[in-house]
Order: sequence, then structure tokens, then C-alpha cells
Amino acid sequence: MVGLPQIFDMSNPEAAAAGIAAAAAALEKGGLVGMPTETVYGLAADATNGRAVAAIFTAKARPRFNPLIIHVISPVAARELAAFAPEALRLAKAFWPGPLTLVLPKRLPSPLADLATAGLDTVALRVPAHPVARALMEAFGRPIAAPSANRSGHVSPTTAAHVADDLGDKVAVILDAGPTGIGLESTIVGFTGADPTLLRSGGVPRQDLEALLGRPLASPSGRAAPVAPGMLASHYAPSAQLRLDATEVGRGEALLAFGPKLPNHAKRAVALINLSPKGDLTEAAAHLFAALRELDGKADRIAVAPIPDQGLGEAVNDRLRRAAAPRA
Ligand code: TXA
Ligand code: MG
Repeated sequence: MVGLPQIFDMSNPEAAAAGIAAAAAALEKGGLVGMPTETVYGLAADATNGRAVAAIFTAKARPRFNPLIIHVISPVAARELAAFAPEALRLAKAFWPGPLTLVLPKRLPSPLADLATAGLDTVALRVPAHPVARALMEAFGRPIAAPSANRSGHVSPTTAAHVADDLGDKVAVILDAGPTGIGLESTIVGFTGADPTLLRSGGVPRQDLEALLGRPLASPSGRAAPVAPGMLASHYAPSAQLRLDATEVGRGEALLAFGPKLPNHAKRAVALINLSPKGDLTEAAAHLFAALRELDGKADRIAVAPIPDQGLGEAVNDRLRRAAAPRA
């Protein structure tokens, strides 16, 4: 508990400068910061400070120590922390800064706290594009560990208000930069086995990565333990029950729609949000988590219209399947 967070409106230049200074000072002291990125808001801590990283797990009430994504200012800073195979380098050059995370062999000795990588000999690295995240990394000067800033198992936060709702008493500072642009977490590609592997679909569509590499990404082998909490079957879970690929709306259901054509009996819906009336998957991704939070308060059941699996649709459908999965 740290009391109420200081919240800074990053659209106001004076508040923004004060916010970056306050956030960097909080990180320096081992505190936690709600940091906007282009994907979702992160719960940021000094990745080189084990106690600060431990505070992330306490705040999120994570069931166990999962490895965290380490955010750095540049590919050069990333290469100090990990070994890049030639294909990893190609992805980094093409998609950083941006919504791509690479899991790579960790370079030793490492300045990172062991807890940040859960004691693994690999590290997940990302160079975010969001100007506020970049200003904070610049001011702080060290790598930042940041999972999504939600309580474990909750829907990821795409606004500062979501962060305050979930973690308001656990963070020292929240930098409010409005809704995040992409709205889904980064795509995670692993370079720790024989072939590059898609560990989590996300903000960079699979097709873009495969086009650049000139070959398909492998799927994680079933044998390994789930390395990412986002890979657990039930995750991103609202308390309402989701019914996917709904072609009609049942009585008492809310409707999460997509595209110009609504499912049958749409008028029955007790609440309706259309992720993108014009059927744009990028817009749908940006609206997904806020829509789940909003409908969650309004009905016990949510009918979800079919969403095409192309482009960002793969990641949208992945999050919806996890949100619909039976709870552990
Ligand atoms: O867009 C994002 O990626 C956001 C923003 C804040 O950057 N962050 C995010 O972090 O989604 P988180 O902790 O919610 O998800 C990070 C995922 C986890 O599922 C974790 O298990 C996986 O990355 N991960 C981290 N290090 C790993 C490693 N060494 N090997 C495999 N997976 C790893
Ligand atoms: Mg998360």
C-alpha cells in the first residue's frame, strides 16, 4: 500500500514534465509506476532492483513468479542484455520501436534482477514506441520491467482509469496518456530453440513477421510449461460468461458486436458495444479490453459476434478465447 497515486495528465506539457520526474524518482526508490505504452498500460519497476520487481508480483497478486518483459530505450540497449541471432536482429530492425517482444538468450553477467526473468537464462525484451514510455526510459536510464498493469487474471488496462481501478493503492504514480493506441499486448516471438516461435499473438500480426522472415513461425511445443501467463487457458477474464461466435443474441445477454452486420435478435441485447462498426480489425483490437470491462458490469452473459482471424484478428480471437475459458 502506498496510498493514493499521483496521477499526471500527460497531454498538458507542464504536468507531463512533472510526471516524468515524479515517475523516474519513484522508480529510483523502488516504487511502481503506471506507464502507458502503445499496447496496454504497464506496471513499471526498476528491472535491476529485485525488491522493486518483487513489488510487481505482490501488487498484481500473481499466483507465481512469471518472467516479465524488460523495456529498453533502443536496440543498442537491448543488445547489451541479450544475444541476438540474425533473424532476431532482422525482426528488431523492422519492428522496434513497436509492439514486438523478443525472448532471447540472456547475456551474462546481467544487470537484471533474477526475479525479473524468473531465474531463466532467457530474457523478454521490448523497445516501446509510446512517447511517454520513451520519455520515462530516457529519464530513468535503466531497463524497466513491466507486465500489464492489471490484477492477475483481469482484463489488461488500456486507460489510466483501468490502472487506478485495479492497482490504484499499489502504484506511486500513474502517467495518464489517454487510451492506448493498439489495445492488445505485444506479440512475443521466442528465439531460444531451433526456430523462431510465436509465444503470444499481439500487436504485430503474425503475417507481417512471417513475411519479413520468409518462413512461418513455429508454435510452442506442448511439452514446455506455460511460459507466459497470457498462455494460460483462462486469462484476461471478465466475471461475465462469454459465448463466442454468436450468430444470435439470447435473452439477458449483452452483445459484443463486430462489423456492420449484427447477429440475429440484436435488439434483445441488454447492452451493446460494437468493436468496429465498419469491420476494421485494428480498431476492434484497440477497443477490446475496454469493451469487456464495460459490458462485464452490465450482464452475466456476453454474446460475442464472430471475428475474422486475419491480421490483428488472430490476437483478438486469442484474448476472447482465454476470456471465455472456464476459470481455474
Ligand atoms: O504489450 C506488452 O507486452 C505489455 C506492455 C506493458 O509492454 N506487457 C505485457 O507483460 O503484456 P505481461 O507480463 O503481462 O506479459 C509478458 C509475457 C508473459 O506472459 C511472460 O510469461 C512472457 O512475456 N515472458 C517474459 N519473459 C519470458 C521468457 N524469458 N520466456 C518466455 N516468456 C517470457
Ligand atoms: Mg498481462
